Amino acid sequence: MLSILVISVMCVSALNCISHDLPDYFPRCSIDDPNLNNCLLKAFNTVRPYVKKGVGEIGILPFEPLVLPTFNLSQESLAVNYTLTTWNFTIRGIDNYNVYEINYNPETLIFSAKIQFDALPVYTKYEVSGRLLHIPVEGKGFLSGTFLGPINATIRIEGKLMEVDGVEYYNTTNVKVTETIKDMEVAAEGLFDGDEELGRITNHLLNLFSAEIMQAANSVWEQLAEEMIMRFIKSFTGSVPYYKIFPKLNN
Ligand SMILES: *[C@@H]1O[C@H](CO)[C@@H](O)[C@H](O)[C@H]1NC(C)=O
Ligand SMILES: *[C@@H]1O[C@H](CO)[C@@H](O)[C@H](O)[C@H]1NC(C)=O
Ligand SMILES: *[C@@H]1O[C@H](CO)[C@@H](O)[C@H](O)[C@H]1NC(C)=O
Ligand SMILES: *[C@@H]1O[C@H](CO)[C@@H](O)[C@H](O)[C@H]1NC(C)=O
Ligand SMILES: *[C@@H]1O[C@H](CO)[C@@H](O)[C@H](O)[C@H]1NC(C)=O
Repeated sequence: MLSILVISVMCVSALNCISHDLPDYFPRCSIDDPNLNNCLLKAFNTVRPYVKKGVGEIGILPFEPLVLPTFNLSQESLAVNYTLTTWNFTIRGIDNYNVYEINYNPETLIFSAKIQFDALPVYTKYEVSGRLLHIPVEGKGFLSGTFLGPINATIRIEGKLMEVDGVEYYNTTNVKVTETIKDMEVAAEGLFDGDEELGRITNHLLNLFSAEIMQAANSVWEQLAEEMIMRFIKSFTGSVPYYKIFPKLNN
């Protein structure tokens, strides 16, 4: 099966090289804590309200809604063959996450988590060209839809410690996301130059075959999530020293 994939994402990220500390109201988990994973699990659920509003001090942008200024996706396989550009891709409900399993190994510096999301409503300006299964899609305009929940995702993050001016930081080297969005509802305006009949039929077909389309396009959404998570983590692990995130018990 031929499958060529090109993704490029442009995100605003507040990357800077000044060394910061986590805000006081953030929970901290000690690297020496024998129950580190439990502590992290609790911490993730504690920070939910701050993640929602963003944490300006350490460059975390608001997650509700999450707005991606622009990205281009293209996928060429037997099942689907399209290019899609979006502007202000807006996702709601990301903050409504439930982390139910976390594993961080300080020896290998590998972090993994299992997360569940409810339905995620999306809204974006788009331009698309190609086909999804045998459904031709062509047009530009606005699109609204919902990724139907529950959505289960696993995230695995690898990194190395790097030293800058004698201070250690976590340098993320690899992010792997596995998720299954089983189905989606979609309403696209502006297909085929606004031809009402073609637009109506195309929307009908997209919803009829939405589960198959999501299955064919899933790997692309995974890669998009990996790209976003990579940027997100770098935005604060690049500015908060490792041992401020994971303080040592005895120092
Ligand atoms: C994305 O695609 C649009 C139009 O198809 C193009 O103008 C733009 O340069 C592309 N952006 C990137 C970052 O590749
Ligand atoms: C995908 O679409 C392009 C442009 O229409 C075409 O050249 C290419 O052969 C198609 N690839 C597949 C696998 O259908
Ligand atoms: C995206 O949203 C910003 C902020 O609301 C707005 O200024 C900008 O014009 C929007 N871009 C497009 C292409 O609609
Ligand atoms: C998601 O994970 C939960 C907990 O492991 C499980 O009960 C549920 O069936 C899973 N849902 C899907 C859609 O895979
Ligand atoms: C972080 O890791 C990447 C990939 O291994 C490497 O290219 C980069 O130089 C590292 N950054 C620093 C500041 O060490």
